[in-house]
Amino acid sequence: MAFYLLILLGITSSLFGIGASSGEQPLSRIAIHQTTLAVHSSAYVKVSPSVLGLKGENKEWVTLNFGHPNPSSDDWIGVFSPANFSASVCAPENEKVYPPTLCTSPIKFQYANYKDNGYNKTGAGSLKLQLINQREDFSFALFSGGFSNPKLVAVSNTVTFAYPKAPVYPRLAQGKSWNEMTVTWTSGYSIDEAIPFVEWVSKGGTPTRSPAGTLTISRSSMCGAPARTVGWRDPGYIHTSFLKDLWPNMKYAYRLGHKLNNGSYVWSRSYSFRASPYPGQESLQRVIIFGDMGKAEADGSNEYNDFQPASLNTTNQLIKDLENIDIVLHIGDLCYANGYISQWDQFTAQIEPIASTVPYMV
Ligand SMILES: [Fe+2]
Repeated sequence: MAFYLLILLGITSSLFGIGASSGEQPLSRIAIHQTTLAVHSSAYVKVSPSVLGLKGENKEWVTLNFGHPNPSSDDWIGVFSPANFSASVCAPENEKVYPPTLCTSPIKFQYANYKDNGYNKTGAGSLKLQLINQREDFSFALFSGGFSNPKLVAVSNTVTFAYPKAPVYPRLAQGKSWNEMTVTWTSGYSIDEAIPFVEWVSKGGTPTRSPAGTLTISRSSMCGAPARTVGWRDPGYIHTSFLKDLWPNMKYAYRLGHKLNNGSYVWSRSYSFRASPYPGQESLQRVIIFGDMGKAEADGSNEYNDFQPASLNTTNQLIKDLENIDIVLHIGDLCYANGYISQWDQFTAQIEPIASTVPYMV
């Protein structure tokens, strides 16, 4: 088997014990536990549309309009999910200590004057932000006082995906044997609610259904802050199915399924992959190897110190070149979530077009 290696980036900085961006997770700049309430009756945040993904999309843009009678250039908008982010959703660390006013980090943020459209003078601003389906609804809050001394001024209407629990972001991995592929995805369905599986079929063939295992993690299994405190977010359920006895080089279509207790099915959209050639068979295998990619937001949010904007260039280029790629090895340092669990959904969404089509080996 001929291997053609394309090495985009060589060495992960973690090999040297110095994460390129350690301590620079943008969300960690926000001292959310220091938040005070300064709700202003004439301040507002309005977001539309309020229902997303009506045609099954897992990624959509929303438009924010907001106003504040005393604007400042360091005012910012935080996106929260679940939409109810008040302290009522968290317990104190121990019974003698009250929880802070806010105990949940936003999942993303942007300066209110990001578009430089006069908000810092007039107090009227707008933003466009991209949301992905992360199983829960969203709300948008306007803060003054910058990131170190946040004052909550106004909270928006709630925005939700029409199918928040939908199976999303499949990622493939080559199995232990040449003729096996694993499919891993995320959903909001526990095994008590639905049976997860993958339906897969070659052209003209008979569809096969393979069962999936289901795993999750809990807050108590995190070893410390921020993953256990402000960075915690329910990761949903992670399902993995093993597709076996694949035929060499065969192209397969597949979709993710959940059979609900009432007998009905929830489906993802259809994806496809090509199975590995038979070992030793004459073939060209084009391998992409890189590390330290990080993640980035198409709307420019969460930006700090050029925090991985190049990762979007990397994923966009790989997506363009996907026809010429057989397998991807992402050799470590993935998204620099650094204990902010929400970032993992955003990472799996960013790599989905690649990882759902060719084995994405981590
Ligand atoms: Fe790194």
